Amino acid sequence: MFTPTLSERSAQYLLLEEKYSAHNYHPLPVVLEKGEGVFVYDVDGRKYFDFLSGYSAVNQGHCHPKIINTFINQAQKLTLTSRAFHNNLFGEFAAYITNYFGYHKVLPMNTGVEAVETAIKLARRWGYTNKGIAENKAKIIVCSNNFHGRTSTVISFSTDPTSYKKFGPYMPGFQIIDYNNLQAVEEVFQDKNVTAILIEPIQGEAGVVVPDEGYLLGIKKLCNKYNVLFIADEIQTGLCRTGKLLACDYENTRPDILILGKALSGGTMPISCVLCDDEIMLNIKPGEHGSTYGGNPLACAVAITSLQVLQEEKMAENAFNMGILLRQELSAIQSPYIKIIRGKGLLNAIVITHENQDAAWQLCLILKENGLLAKPTHGDKIRFAPPLTINALQIKECVGIIQQSLKALA
Ligand SMILES: Cc1ncc(COP(=O)(O)O)c(C=O)c1O
Repeated sequence: MFTPTLSERSAQYLLLEEKYSAHNYHPLPVVLEKGEGVFVYDVDGRKYFDFLSGYSAVNQGHCHPKIINTFINQAQKLTLTSRAFHNNLFGEFAAYITNYFGYHKVLPMNTGVEAVETAIKLARRWGYTNKGIAENKAKIIVCSNNFHGRTSTVISFSTDPTSYKKFGPYMPGFQIIDYNNLQAVEEVFQDKNVTAILIEPIQGEAGVVVPDEGYLLGIKKLCNKYNVLFIADEIQTGLCRTGKLLACDYENTRPDILILGKALSGGTMPISCVLCDDEIMLNIKPGEHGSTYGGNPLACAVAITSLQVLQEEKMAENAFNMGILLRQELSAIQSPYIKIIRGKGLLNAIVITHENQDAAWQLCLILKENGLLAKPTHGDKIRFAPPLTINALQIKECVGIIQQSLKALA
């Protein structure tokens, strides 16, 4: 069993959290106080490579100067109007993001799960208004091992007991099928009450599960055939993380409803949104949906700059190339403890095989000791998702740290 070192100062912070905060997370024992690019620093000044990137919210790198500059300037001018009034940035943001992704309209929210909820409401409304489904009968298809967030509706269709157990009763209207199985999609689409299918193009929380080539396009074709909406939750996979602007771009597949979040703010504040065309979006009328902070001027300014930075610094290309290098270098390690290496772009995971069930957690403690922060997901999987600004030398240095740490995993 590996025992991590912890300074007295860090231990104090851990104690405060333990005593005064809900115990709804199990963080690695490290206390961070600064971030810059691909690095974060703890309260004792120790520097680490960040291989989680705030669950892919910090794609542009920590405290990206251009994003922070926009943030500060706008924060000194106007931060919140609510949508009771217009502000000079919301229209600009709406025009910018719809043009960027090629949709008629955007609906802004804050956290990722709020955008998922928005997509669900839009899909149901479209089902009743456009498809002619009888009210309260609409069904949305989802996949096993999904992760779309934590609200009571969204956990209603989770297959992970940690997410849903003893939080019922559950919201009806969802049907779960296997991921990466087109035949299952076609079978459930026979039901005329199916209004939409909601999927992650790569299942991030499940441990970076990449479906077979043709899966996304196959779903889209079936959606067209059976008049069903294709909802892509690209909250984690989108915004260049997987080596393209959207993971759906790998198969030239345009979702009918696109959900974005996380890196829309470069990790500075919660900004999310849903994009779709008029036929779907204009079914929602004033007062029927919204959020006090959704579309606030600070968020609008920050989101525009965050999207600009992704393009200007060619982050999709870098993620694509660095992802190939990372997987190549990881494959060359040949550790008996690595069972699987998988991913796309800079959304990757290794699956650990070890007699000790706790080995992935242990390895993360050793990685931390050696200057790299990563976190296990679902027991035996560790996600490797650094900021998209990482370069080849740094990738090689990180793989060196991973190799050295695997050796210490006795
Ligand atoms: C695919 C996906 N959807 C939704 C969410 C929920 O986002 P948030 O935590 O901002 O509510 C996440 C978060 O990890 C996610 O990965």
